Amino acid sequence: MAIVDRKWAALPVPYAMEVPDRVRKERYYDADFYRLELEQLWPRVWQMACRLEEIPQPRDFVEYDFSDQSIIVLRTDDMGVAAFQNACRHRGVRVVDGRGRCDSGFTCPFHGWCYGLDGKNTYVARRKTFAAHNLEPGDIDLVPVRCEVWGGCAWINLDDGAPPLRQCLEPAATILDAWKVESLRTEWWYACRLPVNWKLAVEAFIEAYHVVETHPQLVIPTRYGRRDDAPFDPRAFVAADIQYLRTMSEGMAGMVHADDVRIAEELQDRDLELPDDAALAIATWTRTLNDAVTRWHRERGADMPDLNELDAQGYNLEFFHCFPHYFVLPMYSSASSYRFRPLGAEETLMEIWSLTRFPEGTERPPPTPPDPWECDDPRWPPIPAQDFSNLPRQQRGLHARGFEYMRLSEQMEGHVANFERTVDGFLAGLPYEKLLPALETVNVYPFDRPILDLGF
Ligand code: FES
Ligand SMILES: [Fe+2]
Repeated sequence: MAIVDRKWAALPVPYAMEVPDRVRKERYYDADFYRLELEQLWPRVWQMACRLEEIPQPRDFVEYDFSDQSIIVLRTDDMGVAAFQNACRHRGVRVVDGRGRCDSGFTCPFHGWCYGLDGKNTYVARRKTFAAHNLEPGDIDLVPVRCEVWGGCAWINLDDGAPPLRQCLEPAATILDAWKVESLRTEWWYACRLPVNWKLAVEAFIEAYHVVETHPQLVIPTRYGRRDDAPFDPRAFVAADIQYLRTMSEGMAGMVHADDVRIAEELQDRDLELPDDAALAIATWTRTLNDAVTRWHRERGADMPDLNELDAQGYNLEFFHCFPHYFVLPMYSSASSYRFRPLGAEETLMEIWSLTRFPEGTERPPPTPPDPWECDDPRWPPIPAQDFSNLPRQQRGLHARGFEYMRLSEQMEGHVANFERTVDGFLAGLPYEKLLPALETVNVYPFDRPILDLGF
């Protein structure tokens, strides 16, 4: 819907989210819609460009690319992070390729123009052969890109007018800070090339409605201690909870870290006395497990928050969306993390990290980007393999002539609607003061969310 005020006019959005619980199929393959996203969305959002542990030393750099853009992300000598557009000011060659360390700056491989660590041009070969207007000071420096740090990652934004990073990540940023997300390190990092639109890929992971059909192993009947009308059995409840933790640990290859599963199993072996009352028993078990996990990680010297203190503050530490393309899924001490990047209207790179805590001072090799596997690669752990098996079928199904739009459950798939409508806010070119409340609505736990008023 077009909202016009004195300062700005909304741009028309094709295939817009006019009915919040219906998503037009063209949003997932139409070339013009995709082009509009590349023009109006991606250059205006904070993108997770790299994990800081990829550039641990001064002068380490990585190349971050999305669509046809490439950005150099550099660890500066004062341990800050700087970013530049990766295009030589002479004839546009990408100055760096991949990652590495630059001792004194960057040298373009074509004609040898040089740039310092601050991006300033330091050398033009055969300088005298250029007219002065092509050597204007400042004009031949690498173009700087906004870069900020949060959550153990460096983030970039191509829009100088965008609000600061943290403001765009709330409320997820505050909660994940309390959980000390910045202390996590990579245990492994995988990538998948998915033959689907990036939003379709994201949306396979932001609702729990699919769990029963797609991941039946996660439906554990006695998890809440009851089967049919039988009385609550604390032992059965603990056994079921541990089975769930194990299934998540093995199924996601570490979303619940094996260390934390082992801590839970040891508690079970100690035959904890639990009250007969279901609510009390569940609360006691949760508190005891939280304590045991907190203690174990602290005793080995890891920077570990007090999980019960976070519980007491009402923090739900399970899943956070950082609009548009980054996710953290904390479970006890550790987390899975996702990043999605479009490779084309119907192709997406999805990366998955398993993140955990190591004793402070542990030397870890900088993680390096994985070669993407196809979505049907047998090496995928069972849970993502199940999600990946649906996605290509869905992308193909969307093209059916008789299919016009998705029909969302307003109670279980509201986050999909809120996410898509926030995308529309960017496509319409809304000013940031209108977009920030929408971001606060989507940077949250996404499961079973209602459709909310975004204010536009
Ligand atoms: S394109 Fe870089 S020096 Fe010529
Ligand atoms: Fe899933």
